Amino acid sequence: MSEPVRIRPFRPGDEPALMEVCLRTGDAGGDASDLLEDPDLISYLWLLPYLRLAPELASVVDRGDGIGVGYVLGALDTVAFDVAAETGWWPEARARFPLDVAPADSLDGLLVHLLHHRGAPDADLVTRYPSHLHIDLLPEVQGRGLGRAMIDRLLGQLTDRGSPGVHLGTSPANTRAVAFYRHLGFDEWGRDSGGSVVFVRSLR
Ligand SMILES: CC(C)(COP(=O)(O)OP(=O)(O)OC[C@H]1O[C@@H](n2cnc3c(N)ncnc32)[C@H](O)[C@@H]1OP(=O)(O)O)[C@@H](O)C(=O)NCCC(=O)NCCS
Repeated sequence: MSEPVRIRPFRPGDEPALMEVCLRTGDAGGDASDLLEDPDLISYLWLLPYLRLAPELASVVDRGDGIGVGYVLGALDTVAFDVAAETGWWPEARARFPLDVAPADSLDGLLVHLLHHRGAPDADLVTRYPSHLHIDLLPEVQGRGLGRAMIDRLLGQLTDRGSPGVHLGTSPANTRAVAFYRHLGFDEWGRDSGGSVVFVRSLR
């Protein structure tokens, strides 16, 4: 009989399972598998850079047999993370996905464009809430308290490291996530340039 579902630190080797989670929750919380020509693309933007550059802040929902079915991850200092990624992640990602790899008017093309053109974060936002996070759980482990437990765990790690606040962005179409963050005490900051709802939470 397998062990119960548990939360544990990320470990090297988790990447393929977590890439599957990223893909299957990538369409405003729903499955993006049918929307993308290259299933890896979404993870190159929103999962793998964190596992590479901030693995100590990544936690995994382990379904009991070592396989990851959810994750939370983030960056302690968004500005420093972006600087580190300019040498430590984006060159490799851009080599894997050159600008002309997908038609510009396709979803793949849009994500490739994002990968090549990283905008600067809102200066006021990152001054007051310098950390940021991402969380995704497969449907089979949603609605069981694990999302709250994963957020609590990461916020504790960020607080221990001295962060004064955290922010995150979510699609307004992801009504479940919007309600989840509100319920957990996050405040709405506004919209970012891509139209995502930005939530913030003070850690002091
Ligand atoms: C959004 C997500 C992280 C929430 O995690 P979860 O494990 O399903 O949520 P939990 O079971 O931990 O719920 C925690 C609390 O939020 C509440 N909550 C969750 N969804 C809610 C909703 N839609 N409306 C109101 N409250 C909600 C729960 O009732 C619970 O309250 P309690 O702890 O006071 O009893 C998870 O559903 C998920 O990964 N979804 C797909 C990917 C995604 O959308 N990621 C976020 C992208 S920004």
